[in-house]
Amino acid sequence: MIRPLVVLGATGSVGRQTLAVATKLGAPVAGVAARRGSDELAAVARAYPEALVGVAAPTSEERERFAEFGKRVRFGPDASSELASLPRSTVVNGVVGSAGLRPSVAALEADNRLALANKESLVAGGPVVMDALRRGGGELIPVDSEHSAIFQCMLGEDIETVRRLILTASGGPFRGRTREELETVTPRDALRHPTWTMGARITIDSATLANKAFEVIEAQQLFGVGYDAIEVVVHPQSIIHSFVEFSDGSIKAQLGEPDMRVPIQYAITYPSRLPGSERRPAPASWTLTLEQPDRDAFPALDVISDAGRRGGPYPAAANAADEIAVSAFLTGRLGFAAIADIIERTLDAIPAVPLDTVDDVFAVDREARGVAGALIGAAC
Ligand SMILES: NC(=O)c1ccc[n+]([C@@H]2O[C@H](COP(=O)([O-])OP(=O)(O)OC[C@H]3O[C@@H](n4cnc5c(N)ncnc54)[C@H](OP(=O)(O)O)[C@@H]3O)[C@@H](O)[C@H]2O)c1
Repeated sequence: MIRPLVVLGATGSVGRQTLAVATKLGAPVAGVAARRGSDELAAVARAYPEALVGVAAPTSEERERFAEFGKRVRFGPDASSELASLPRSTVVNGVVGSAGLRPSVAALEADNRLALANKESLVAGGPVVMDALRRGGGELIPVDSEHSAIFQCMLGEDIETVRRLILTASGGPFRGRTREELETVTPRDALRHPTWTMGARITIDSATLANKAFEVIEAQQLFGVGYDAIEVVVHPQSIIHSFVEFSDGSIKAQLGEPDMRVPIQYAITYPSRLPGSERRPAPASWTLTLEQPDRDAFPALDVISDAGRRGGPYPAAANAADEIAVSAFLTGRLGFAAIADIIERTLDAIPAVPLDTVDDVFAVDREARGVAGALIGAAC
């Protein structure tokens, strides 16, 4: 039976696709939340008259407008966590940024199923989220297509027998370009992803390969294998979503046309598979290629993976610095090629403090944002 869904980030790319899946499955929706009290969120709230509505950062005008939802509406930064704690629900976390961390922890502490798209939960707060998973009776099912692929390959397998996780990367819109050629690319160029349609931050992160490094960190947290056992290969067609190699030499992969509704639906219906996409792939029409990533042209891959290896505050700091650098790039204050440099220099400035609680994560997050912002300001 499908549990009532709580959709966090309901107005974003993952959130909209989750609502489309909910409609298709006929799943009840118990809560919807977003950052702003936008017309879109209001329309979603009207479409689900039983659902609680969370608005994390409303303007005063939006507060007035959302008064139409009466007792159903919750305002403020804790709204998403309150919704995520609704008992016996499946929480699809499609929030962008570190704002997704508290609701992830809240969902797991409330024994809910967390269908996790929000990357930053595991990247910035991996140890805290995994601790909440161990403490609570909740479940964590990954939504990101690569981690969903690994999760599916691992069904019926013993983690002790895993030799390598191999994450595929599309390579983004700039695959094949040199470091010099990347000096002059614009946000418009970078927002044109060849295979996936996603929010702005993850699209830029895909262009720098920062996204793939964040996925390496997520995979390490989720599956508990060492960094040396996680590899990245570029696969421009985005059909093979990832591989797992086992100790007997066997390799499993999960394949499918790039369509986020598939892993979203699987995270909701797991362990069942219910009818989903009606598009029938034609494997004979596929050309599947694999190549090494260009680590010189895309230095963010190594800079952020190294932050993962260092552990402690460094993944959280890398995430925060990347968010600030991407936003500066999108607003024309920073060049594309400088994004990795800002992250690296921010990491150099962060002391190795322990990271045990959500508050520790946000302390590092704030510090790294400050450092990255100052570095960008000085570079302008
Ligand atoms: N898109 C994909 O295909 C994809 C694939 C894999 C993983 N992911 C991950 O999933 C997450 C969401 O990505 P996306 O592409 O869907 O992003 P997006 O299109 O930018 O949407 C982000 C959503 O988060 C909401 N939001 C932002 N801050 C919030 C806050 N403080 N509290 C509550 N809601 C907040 C936004 O609300 P407003 O509209 O009001 O601002 C919006 O609904 C990211 O972590 C991304 O890395 C995405």
